[in-house]
Amino acid sequence: MKHILVATDGSDASSRAVEQAAELAAKFDVPLTVGHVLHFERPANELARMAEVEHMVRHATQASGVNFPNVPDTMLGLFKDTAPGDNTVRLITVIGEEIVKRAVDRAKELGVKTTKTMISQGDTADAILDMIDETGTDMCVVGHRGLGRVKTMLLGSVALKVVQQAGCSVLSVR
Ligand SMILES: Nc1ncnc2c1ncn2[C@@H]1O[C@H](COP(=O)(O)OP(=O)(O)OP(=O)(O)O)[C@@H](O)[C@H]1O
Ligand SMILES: [Mg+2]
Repeated sequence: MKHILVATDGSDASSRAVEQAAELAAKFDVPLTVGHVLHFERPANELARMAEVEHMVRHATQASGVNFPNVPDTMLGLFKDTAPGDNTVRLITVIGEEIVKRAVDRAKELGVKTTKTMISQGDTADAILDMIDETGTDMCVVGHRGLGRVKTMLLGSVALKVVQQAGCSVLSVR
């Protein structure tokens, strides 16, 4: 193994993917890239359900420089009070950066020596596939599900497309 990429959307499953990817990277002493794909077009739904990152709200409101009359308590509140536009883009970028930063911090705690980050946009799976190529990843780690609402399928659509199209091994973490 030469390079591991973990893709995270901040969901529980992707946090477990970060743990496993970091354990592997530490054990094999290879670099770990943490990748995240920003979604500007449908943020409120997915992000509102990121219960585990609700405490990002205060950070995001401060770091974004967006002036809120009252700092909302929840992700839902954050986007409810914000009209779509530059502020939304700024907030989503800050939250994306925070998701990646937390993953990197965790990886370092688990003993990973070399970490790299990539934040991209566009079709999620295509962006992850590009990251795999750019980094020379030979092991990509994803969660088996993400932030999506419909949980009937066994594997999320992003994970499925990456498994189907990646030229490297893909580990989907439960
Ligand atoms: N925006 C993203 N940035 C980085 N990685 C992502 C992103 N979205 C999903 N992933 C990766 O793919 C894994 C599976 O998520 P996926 O989106 O396939 O499932 P889902 O959200 O449950 O379903 P769907 O999106 O099809 O409704 C996540 O755990 C994460 O590793
Ligand atoms: Mg998803």
